[in-house]
Amino acid sequence: MKATAKAHTNIALIKYWGKRDEQLFLPTNSSLSVTLDKFYTETSVHFSPDFHADRFILNDQQADPKEMEKITTFLDRIRNLSGKSLYATIDSKNYVPTAAGFASSASGFAALAAAATKAIGLDVDYRQLSQIARQGSGSASRSIYGGYVEWQKGEKADGSDCYALPIISEQDWDIRVLSVEVTTKAKKVLSREGMKRTVETSPFYSGWLEAVEKDLITARDAIKEKDFEKLGHVVEANALKMHATTLGANPPFMYWQSATVEVMQEVEELRAAGIEAYFTIDAGPNVKVLCQPKDEHAVRDKLSLLTVVREIHHCRPGPGITYLPI
Ligand code: DP6
Repeated sequence: MKATAKAHTNIALIKYWGKRDEQLFLPTNSSLSVTLDKFYTETSVHFSPDFHADRFILNDQQADPKEMEKITTFLDRIRNLSGKSLYATIDSKNYVPTAAGFASSASGFAALAAAATKAIGLDVDYRQLSQIARQGSGSASRSIYGGYVEWQKGEKADGSDCYALPIISEQDWDIRVLSVEVTTKAKKVLSREGMKRTVETSPFYSGWLEAVEKDLITARDAIKEKDFEKLGHVVEANALKMHATTLGANPPFMYWQSATVEVMQEVEELRAAGIEAYFTIDAGPNVKVLCQPKDEHAVRDKLSLLTVVREIHHCRPGPGITYLPI
């Protein structure tokens, strides 16, 4: 009862920001992402009647109790679905530079969902896998698929209509995502905590909800039309709206640092100089810059001149989950 799976991380182009059900990880809004080729997690799961507890080894180290609790809760859902009460040993390797502000939880729970369901003998399709992965971390629901992906918020209280679906594949449209790592004086509000505080206290949250579904339709259309300018504009505007909600929270918080703003302004200058580049930012200070393949080097050359830029990782649209030999 063993299986190994690999899943890639994704960057939200239209953000998931807020839950309507925290236990089931049901979001208040639909979101849209592109899976990235460069960063991934590989996870092996082994269920056995010989095991007397779950074990989770992450990057060759035993996980801490808090991490272990999340994994056990997640495995319990899979055990319930399968009707088998076996413990598991999980061996996971993250090829995600967490310092670059990529949530390893997206690729992590997507890979774990794929490997654990296969190891325990559950016959699930991608839609069900997306629903299972979602219950480890919302953004993981999107990492099941490659390319451009939409996570539908659904309406039902049991989450049965809440899952991700592919829009077009990674081969269908080549864009570049430059992950720009900046120097930080990091004090972090985790995305889970940040979105909760915003939903509960920010008067700007209702404005977010009014705007986000419209942004999503624009982004989806832009992807289908392969209209880079249209996509870039809505992606950048959507990220700014998400971040605006945090300023209205109580207590207020902000993911940006001065270095973040420097990169954002440089992207604006690139556009003023005729190069189409757009930014997006998740729950941290680093910036992801979208551009077309023809402009990749010009964008990198300009951004790398900034003293606050530590490293730039170049990504392309990447694949969905794959199963590996055990
Ligand atoms: C800003 O998926 O990390 O990156 O569901 O609580 O695990 P949980 O949150 P998570 O939140 C991601 C928030 C975001 C936007 C996005 O990826 O859509």
